[in-house]
Amino acid sequence: MHTDTSPTLLITGGAGFIGSHLTTELLQHGYRVRILDNLSPQVHGPERQRPGHLDRRAEVFVGDIRDPHRVEEALDGVDAVIHLAAVVGERSSMYRIEKYMSVNTTGTAVLLEALLDHPVERLVVASSSAVYGEGLYSSYNGAIFQNVRRSPAQTARGDWEPRSPDGEVIYPLPTPETKEVAPQSIYAVSKYDQEEMCRMIGEAYGIPTTVLRLFSVYGPHQGYANPYSGMLAEYASRLLQGLPVRLFEDGYQQRDFVSVYDVARAFRLALETPRAAGGTFNIGSGRPYTFRTAADMLAAIIRRQDLAPEVTGACRVGEIRHCIADISRAREVLGYAPKVPLEAGLLELAAWVEAEILERRKVPSPLNVPVPSRLHV
Ligand SMILES: NC(=O)c1ccc[n+]([C@@H]2O[C@H](COP(=O)([O-])OP(=O)(O)OC[C@H]3O[C@@H](n4cnc5c(N)ncnc54)[C@H](O)[C@@H]3O)[C@@H](O)[C@H]2O)c1
Repeated sequence: MHTDTSPTLLITGGAGFIGSHLTTELLQHGYRVRILDNLSPQVHGPERQRPGHLDRRAEVFVGDIRDPHRVEEALDGVDAVIHLAAVVGERSSMYRIEKYMSVNTTGTAVLLEALLDHPVERLVVASSSAVYGEGLYSSYNGAIFQNVRRSPAQTARGDWEPRSPDGEVIYPLPTPETKEVAPQSIYAVSKYDQEEMCRMIGEAYGIPTTVLRLFSVYGPHQGYANPYSGMLAEYASRLLQGLPVRLFEDGYQQRDFVSVYDVARAFRLALETPRAAGGTFNIGSGRPYTFRTAADMLAAIIRRQDLAPEVTGACRVGEIRHCIADISRAREVLGYAPKVPLEAGLLELAAWVEAEILERRKVPSPLNVPVPSRLHV
């Protein structure tokens, strides 16, 4: 229950997937929440309605992060800012270049200029594991590789695993925040811009600033087209409709799938931990899974193991092979401890996807998935 003295937080992009869960987390912990979101049609559909699942107690300012007047209005009386507003996705960033740089980079510039006149006690910005490009790798002999890339010629041969300059196959390691950044998309460039701009202005003007590099966040209300983890919702959707999952490459790419509930908690910890100021933290589950394993887990949940995955052998442009999180810094400084195992998270995701399909078809009877109670962890 918040009171008149409860701190007021502004979440930019707060009507989106992560923002809506974060809103719930913060309201439950006694904060007042204000949201600035333009209800972008790509995310919210042509009607651009306030999402029904967004907690009614949150105050929503509909407006663009690039509109200085609206941003100033939204900042009035605010104690801290969590900056999520962004256009999300790597592939489309490679042809919608101006849009990504405008919303993500210029939008952050507008927010920071407005913050000069409305100083806050804390700024937390959502960055992405995309800034790393490929994760950290090691050779069999223990040599470390920071800046790994697969050439188009290599992937065209179906030779999927990254190699050292000597041609030796190398292996993914948990990636710490100290790994060199190596963006491989315009989206990743814009996320690194956001980080650097917030850090720099935060330092220059005494705004304690924290950067969270989120890995592949999944959970109810995620966009199916979400490049990180929309894949998991798409797998569930296909299986529920009796279609096989389609795996890119050979399906053995490793990712760190992290529950949106753990991510929401990480943001709150970043706000509340004095030592987090000035820091950059990986937020993942700390456990790598391949797309193939995640698809198999979903097939088991939906009871469609009979539908063998279709391995396309196709490599998506700019796609990395492996990136898995080293979350020891977040554990140590923020006291962050992921609580949602992938099995439980996928069960809830599948139930949500099933409900969405039924809603679209207006079918009253349930399909396959036992509906779990919402994950309260
Ligand atoms: N989902 C993930 O797996 C993931 C991983 C790494 C980083 N992130 C970052 O987390 C943040 C939130 O991502 P999400 O998955 O919730 O995405 P989302 O697309 O669901 O939410 C983004 C929100 O920003 C709003 N928005 C877009 N353009 C805007 C503008 N010009 N002005 C104001 N609002 C605008 C959208 O309407 C939407 O509500 C983003 O910064 C994203 O880069 C997400």
